[in-house]
Amino acid sequence: MKILIINGPNLNLIGKRESEVYGNESLEDIKTWLMSQPEFQTHDIEWFQSNHEGTIIDKLHDSINKKNGIVINAGALTHYSYSLRDAILSINIPAVEVHLSDINNREPFRKNSVIKDVCINQISGEGKKSYLIGIKLLLDKLN
Ligand code: DQA
Repeated sequence: MKILIINGPNLNLIGKRESEVYGNESLEDIKTWLMSQPEFQTHDIEWFQSNHEGTIIDKLHDSINKKNGIVINAGALTHYSYSLRDAILSINIPAVEVHLSDINNREPFRKNSVIKDVCINQISGEGKKSYLIGIKLLLDKLN
């Protein structure tokens, strides 16, 4: 399977940013850990990060006919980006929403995800394991 993992704004700064919330590992550390997991040996998984909404939307459009599934940590775009929501809906590729932190137990605005109902599932609060759970859910759905 061809899976695209998308990381949105400010995720490039984890490890340095709000470590009490996101931990001390960098996004590169998380990528390295994920790449050592069996799913990464058997599937073609691409890792992508951008701080720009339009770049993420272009990347989603570019996935049409190229990817079987998407795992997306959209960062704060999760809470307000209807363009991102429309893009996920438009490309017709199953997507799983993931978050490192537990978005339901933080500031009230984080409880709202505008992409939740266009994704097949939402995984939040499991740290880096959220990505792995998301990939496994996607693969189960695709098989
Ligand atoms: C996040 C949660 C978002 O609310 C926040 O804006 C982020 C990271 C997470 O992974 O926990 O940037 O998506």
